[in-house]
Amino acid sequence: MIHLNGEFMPIEQAKISVLDRGFIFGDGVYEVIPVYSRRPFRLEEHLARLQSSLDAIRLANPHPLSKWTELVAKIIAGNPWDDQNVYLQVTRGAAKRDHAFPKGIAPTIFLMASELVPPSPELVRDGAKAIVLPDFRWLRCDIKSTSLLGNCMLRTLAADQGCVEAILVRDGLLTEASASNVFIVMNGTVLAPPKSHLILPGITYDVVIEILRAHSLPHEVRPVAESELRSADEVWVTSSSREVLPITTLDGRPVGRGKNAGKRGPVCARVYALYQEYKAKVMRAPAHA
Ligand code: PDD
Repeated sequence: MIHLNGEFMPIEQAKISVLDRGFIFGDGVYEVIPVYSRRPFRLEEHLARLQSSLDAIRLANPHPLSKWTELVAKIIAGNPWDDQNVYLQVTRGAAKRDHAFPKGIAPTIFLMASELVPPSPELVRDGAKAIVLPDFRWLRCDIKSTSLLGNCMLRTLAADQGCVEAILVRDGLLTEASASNVFIVMNGTVLAPPKSHLILPGITYDVVIEILRAHSLPHEVRPVAESELRSADEVWVTSSSREVLPITTLDGRPVGRGKNAGKRGPVCARVYALYQEYKAKVMRAPAHA
């Protein structure tokens, strides 16, 4: 069951105009909210990021927080899985094709859900493969825009080489990956690129930073050089669907040195475990009234 502009229906019945600016220009923003045991994880943070994206593209938020919360709850209840990804998207709506934002048109509001399948225990244990590519996307990667052609091209280049992710560098610095944030470990210290217009402010990124802080694990949020990425002891990617996933092969070479080369590192293993613990705790806590 999906939601489109005030109505719930099976996805096959959902129809939008071919003049929708989401279709014509990619003029819209979106969120992907993980749901565990039918409870959305970090919903307020996702809705706050939605507001920032809408503000950045000068699109009025069509709903107050309470209405979004209600719509998300209805989508969760209307779909069969206990663990889901709730996808929500707002586009500017349908208008005669003209680049400048039109005034006074109704936005298109769409929500759907899919089953949330976290990375398999084998993948979490052994890690995944990634390649490094130049970040040729635009300069507003902080907006969670549906205009994802750059990300799709980069992810496809990775997939062509049997890799799960493309890790991106711009002007000699690590930015993020095609659909996740990136952390590295050097000599026991976790390094994360700071938030800027060049990366998406990941909700999972924030959870990981909170965990590092709460457990006094050495970490620094600072620019990370491509050379550091390539010589790191550990590399991980984080996202709502991938959680904390180790990258153990980068550009065909094992990540790390010595006996840990090509294996999940100890810091990743610790943070992964703490992330699972945190998730379980939040999901057990009493629901908001
Ligand atoms: N992607 N960076 C990019 C470019 C992303 O697309 C995503 C998420 C992230 C991680 O953000 P979060 O931790 O809030 O999921 C970072 C989602 C899952 C997607 O597009 O499907």
